[in-house]
Amino acid sequence: TMAAGDAVHVGRRRHVLLFPLPYQGHINPMFRLAGLLHARGFAVTVFHTQLNAPDPARHPEYRFVPVPNGSPVPVAIEDVVAHILELGRACEAAFRDRLASVLEEYSRDTVACLVADAHLLPIFEAAARLSVPTLALRTGSAACCACFLAYPMLFQKGYLPVQESQRDMPVLELPPYRVRDLLVIGEDGGGLARELITRATAAVKTSSGLILNTFDALERRELEGLRRDLAVPVFDIGPLHKFSPAGDSSLLLPDRSCLEWLDAWPPESVLYVSFGSVACMSARDLVETAWGIAGSGVPFLWVVRPGMVSGPADHRQQQLPEGFGAATHGRGMVVTWAPQEDVLGHRAVGGFWTHAGWNSTVESICDGVPMLCSPYFGDQMGNTRYVEHAWRVGIEVGGNIERGSVEAAIFRLMTHEDGAQMRTRAGELKKAAAECTAEGGSSCLAVDKLFTHMMSL
Ligand code: UDX
Repeated sequence: TMAAGDAVHVGRRRHVLLFPLPYQGHINPMFRLAGLLHARGFAVTVFHTQLNAPDPARHPEYRFVPVPNGSPVPVAIEDVVAHILELGRACEAAFRDRLASVLEEYSRDTVACLVADAHLLPIFEAAARLSVPTLALRTGSAACCACFLAYPMLFQKGYLPVQESQRDMPVLELPPYRVRDLLVIGEDGGGLARELITRATAAVKTSSGLILNTFDALERRELEGLRRDLAVPVFDIGPLHKFSPAGDSSLLLPDRSCLEWLDAWPPESVLYVSFGSVACMSARDLVETAWGIAGSGVPFLWVVRPGMVSGPADHRQQQLPEGFGAATHGRGMVVTWAPQEDVLGHRAVGGFWTHAGWNSTVESICDGVPMLCSPYFGDQMGNTRYVEHAWRVGIEVGGNIERGSVEAAIFRLMTHEDGAQMRTRAGELKKAAAECTAEGGSSCLAVDKLFTHMMSL
């Protein structure tokens, strides 16, 4: 096979353009992809919104092109679906402008393609109008992507909209999903959610290829299904974070002192608790979570992020319950943001209580850490289903968060034989992931194919 790097050095098609969706769970995989592309010789240009703009000083090797969205996006960021849709629309015109000038500056035939987040359909459309080939990055699982493609069928067959009585019904066409594991579309028909799904699907189908942060050993059947159902090539090049030199794309400052704190604990003894960058819990759930953790007696590292508790702004300071500090003195650390990759790779960490965002799920699996999953929205229910029933590397802590059930779940994960078995299986997946990214492994070959493809567009 042609090494793409060779072609890059010829001097043509040496630029790759990127446009991430500006949320942490989408920025991280895009920057990891950027690292991979840059290491193979591409010059990287990152288009970005004003919202969550990257700090160019942290990435001197890339060029950054701000895309102003004109008027402020008229919905709150907590309103995730509406916000994604508005953001794309708001950027389209300015992006087209910026892209045109970049094309003029670089001279068109040195630009290989634009890789954009699949949720940014207007960006794909603008690029197409300027004849720039596009690749779609989807930051979720292959199973989630298959589920998006299947939405028309899910409505046709009556799985959707969700009826309360059918929530536990298996979706026969998409095992192991049950109706409740799908991106929830209620009786109202889910106007905005359906629009989001339709548009992301359209972006993938109009692109020249789909990039997924997953790997063959994890989702072989799902990837085969996608390849059967999609006319565009699919590149399973995950786990991106193991592939790419650690890209520094954290929006919040990670508290690295927790790594030293972890050093003092025996192997696999500490529970790491983090619910990602978007999920919000009620003040009540925070209290139950805190007392559940305290009651378990297990050492823990807990990320309590600014804005993690929902409710009116003046109630939003993360009030840990009175007495929590004293009750857990000496065996717990609370931080506002953690260097998650390093934490999950630390030998002291033996379990991860997560919201099952796709990045967190993949990061945990690739370090052999079993999970407790408390899904909040979007793909998190589906990811949880796979964790519990397909890979069997974790269990759900769902429904009403209550201190007693939290304690029991932590006990089961950290000290019970069940947890040990989950840890063994996670260890096997860790090994499989390492094989995929090693020379000759499936992800490594997919990266080669991706580069060859990019040079051919
Ligand atoms: C969102 C959705 O929740 C998720 O389901 C979807 O797949 C992607 O978008 P998010 O909530 O941010 O993602 O979760 P996740 O996908 O897990 O990404 C969070 C990222 O932030 C991970 O890469 C994680 O390593 C990082 N992180 C998280 C930290 O670096 N420090 C922390 O303290 C917490």
